[in-house]
Amino acid sequence: MSVDTVSDESLRAAMVDQLVADHADKGLTMRPEVEAALRAVPRHLFTPDAGLEEAYRADQAVITKRVGDEAVSSVSAPWLIAEMLGQAADSVDGGLHGRHVLEIGSGGYNAALLRELVGPAGSVTTVDIDPDVTDRATACLAAAGYDDVMVVCMDAEQPIDPSRSYDLIIVTVGAWDIPRAWAGQLAEHGTLVVPLRTFGMTRSWALRREDDRLVSLSQRLCGFVPMRGAGAHDMQYVDVAAGVHLRLDEGQQIDPEIVGELLSQPSTQAWAGVSLPPRTVLADLDLWLASRITGTGKQFVVLTAQQDAVDTGVVVPAWRFGTPAVLHGGTFCYRSALRWSDDMFDLGAVAHGPDAAAAAERMVEHMRAWLDAGSPSPVLYVLPSGIPDGDLPAGTVLDKRHSRLVLTFTPA
Ligand SMILES: C[S@@+](CC[C@H](N)C(=O)[O-])C[C@H]1O[C@@H](n2cnc3c(N)ncnc32)[C@H](O)[C@@H]1O
Repeated sequence: MSVDTVSDESLRAAMVDQLVADHADKGLTMRPEVEAALRAVPRHLFTPDAGLEEAYRADQAVITKRVGDEAVSSVSAPWLIAEMLGQAADSVDGGLHGRHVLEIGSGGYNAALLRELVGPAGSVTTVDIDPDVTDRATACLAAAGYDDVMVVCMDAEQPIDPSRSYDLIIVTVGAWDIPRAWAGQLAEHGTLVVPLRTFGMTRSWALRREDDRLVSLSQRLCGFVPMRGAGAHDMQYVDVAAGVHLRLDEGQQIDPEIVGELLSQPSTQAWAGVSLPPRTVLADLDLWLASRITGTGKQFVVLTAQQDAVDTGVVVPAWRFGTPAVLHGGTFCYRSALRWSDDMFDLGAVAHGPDAAAAAERMVEHMRAWLDAGSPSPVLYVLPSGIPDGDLPAGTVLDKRHSRLVLTFTPA
């Protein structure tokens, strides 16, 4: 056995130990078959241009193609792949063994993991829009000994093989909508796992097909390179102040000068007056806020900021990589940094503008309401576009190009 082989194995074992521990920290349990697959697949053979250490970093994607400055393809981060495979295995009745799987977005690594999970009686097809990526995935799969994965080069917005249906479709590229082809290729009660952007925030949703609709079973925080081809939907960032940006989605338009001018005015802070333990996960709260503070006259947006803008106090966001914010009646309000005391924290909102005190208070009331409801998680329904309002489940409706999404919250 070569020295390299020994290091590959020990690095891989350490990476998987780390992933199992990270799952436990998040209150998740890694399924044994997912753990076994992660221990079996030699990830470094799918990242030949990266060093061994880089190949086995649990928290990092390895970028495999850029166009200009933009990363357009990668071998996804192990923590994210592990969580999405867990979502998939939890959602497909009876587990993944013997199942037929379509992966959208190829890197080779995840397809190899899926091959391990479905076993000889199942099948894996992986599709990518980019011939460089499919050529690379084909070569890496062969080098790692996975020669029974079907690799297809095409835009996955269209059906891959209209005569086939899949028990699981796992999308490994950031989507803005659910094209008809995805639900159409799912077996009845099949599962679609997809990183989907709603209100400017992306979550990996596990959605089960129930007749004409998809209904979510779980969701996780995630980030991916965006879809290309017919399903591309650019996310727009506007600069509102030095180092402060707004992420706009769903065809939104906002005058950056108005928000910049508001940010230069004094702010008002409100607190929810709650005491929460460290590690309380607030990702569901952000979707709750999005669903509560959209509507006529209100523009829900996501605020992002560079560290300098936070250090100099231009903004004090809850999370500088994406904080819920709203522009309403000439007042700008966002979820602010946590206030810690005795190892517990409180939730707050900051507002600028003529109605600042009331706007900040309204936002913290929504936060209290989420906590009072038992910190519920969102449930997402995906229905085909054209379904009349009266046939939609109750909830916040978000219309996309091919689908109507309904976001609702059930008590924890
Ligand atoms: C994050 S990478 C996939 C990672 C991979 N599953 C792995 O094993 O780590 C995302 C891929 O999605 C592909 N992609 C983007 N738009 C696509 C589309 N419309 N149809 C198929 N593939 C697409 C990109 O070319 C890119 O290679």
